[in-house]
Amino acid sequence: GIVAGCGRTASTDQTAVLLPSATPLPERFTVPFAVPPVKRPIAREAGLTTYDIVQRTAWAEILPGLSTEIMGYDGLLPGPTIRARRGERVRITHRNRLTVPTVVHLHGGHTPADSDGYPIDLVLPEIEGGAHHGGLHTDETGVITKGSRTYDYPNDQPAATLWYHDHRMDFTGPQVWRGLAGLHLITDEVEEALDLPGGDRDIPLMIMDRSFGADGSLRYPALDPELADPPGVYGDYVAGVLGDVILVNGRPWPELEVDAVRYRFRIVNASNARRYRLALDPPPPSGPSFVQIGSDGGLLDAPVGHDTIQLAAAERFDVVVDFGAYPVGTAITVTNALGVGSTDAVLRFRVVRAARETSRVPARLAEIEPLVPAPGATVREWRFSRGGAGGPAHWVINGLAFDPSRMDARPRLGEVEIWRFQTDLHHPVHVHLSPFQVRRRGNRGPGEWDRGWKDTIDLAPLETAEVAIRFDDHAGRFLLHCHNLEHEDMMMMSAFETVR
Ligand code: C2O
Ligand code: CU
Repeated sequence: GIVAGCGRTASTDQTAVLLPSATPLPERFTVPFAVPPVKRPIAREAGLTTYDIVQRTAWAEILPGLSTEIMGYDGLLPGPTIRARRGERVRITHRNRLTVPTVVHLHGGHTPADSDGYPIDLVLPEIEGGAHHGGLHTDETGVITKGSRTYDYPNDQPAATLWYHDHRMDFTGPQVWRGLAGLHLITDEVEEALDLPGGDRDIPLMIMDRSFGADGSLRYPALDPELADPPGVYGDYVAGVLGDVILVNGRPWPELEVDAVRYRFRIVNASNARRYRLALDPPPPSGPSFVQIGSDGGLLDAPVGHDTIQLAAAERFDVVVDFGAYPVGTAITVTNALGVGSTDAVLRFRVVRAARETSRVPARLAEIEPLVPAPGATVREWRFSRGGAGGPAHWVINGLAFDPSRMDARPRLGEVEIWRFQTDLHHPVHVHLSPFQVRRRGNRGPGEWDRGWKDTIDLAPLETAEVAIRFDDHAGRFLLHCHNLEHEDMMMMSAFETVR
């Protein structure tokens, strides 16, 4: 394993460091499973749905018997789920009742630049005197609002599992860790025509690792002494912060009771830095454990079976699991081969009753237009590596630390380009605005988990990958960055401007 800065690591496959909890961990698979509530709109007119979300602190019982102060959308961890149809415009006013500036980004959203959550477009706290301005980075083009900001999401993209989260420059890691993340699901006619498992058999699994102090508080190492717990050790954690408690939809290692039929799970890795390799124990007596039907950007063209699924921070896998393959009474653990000790499992299913099967997984799912670069298409190289020792830029892209006023590329709207990523260590590379298609890894074709429309690709140490990408519309400033949030905060981010 590669560990920067410190000798503690949680597995052989993490470019990150474990921050252990200071409280005894609960027994696993004892807490009941929960699904985040779906947000109710305040108004619904033809083609436009309006929501109001309050970002605030709240107390939550995450570990049984302890109270944890979180920063949550509507005071929830995860935040409320937004459900939209393709083409339905969604307008969300976010009120910042926290004590820190925030920025909201819809991850995977095909969103105009002014609503995409540029990391210096800060929403300052509405609470007078509560503003915590340490390390405020702005340039003359950052659009700063006080108290609230209204974001517009056109949702003009295929059915997909998206998520929204904080994106404040230099402070995304601590603010997401404390709870600022939620789901945003888009559906469309293509998906609805498929008879996939639906209703309460279409279940999100938002997975995140966290660590807790003896009093139940969320621990996170930070430069800022006001936020740091433990103080003074941030240097160890620029590699990424790993927790030893695995939360699914905000519950530690929950157990979900299921019928002996097919379920759809939308797996979202909302961890700061942890990657998982998931499997079912026991595996089904026949057939694959997971039938993948979708990835980051929506449905695949055809289902594909996997016995394991590996996902890095921000990646999504939409899968169907057939519990009909198991006898009623079976307990099935979702294991994590990349974790050790408490992190070697994520949740448990218990098959509690037989039921009538109403769903199927058809052989064809969605039409996927192949992105074919024209001869002479623009090729861009992006090298992700460690930065200069000791400076604030611990991680860089093409040797440069993030500068929100510097545009590192100007891709032309409507043109298919080839982007090449190259790494020194593990980095999950994410591009805003449009998903891409993986063409190759090294000198081979796409990897086992690279199918479909991706917006985040996990690269191993010293790996190269080539993707095809096209930005169809929305001229403006967008981002490319590592989604290990500590790497992102430590400058591994690049801005580009799409141009007509
Ligand atoms: Cu999930 Cu730029 O972010
Ligand atoms: Cu990284």
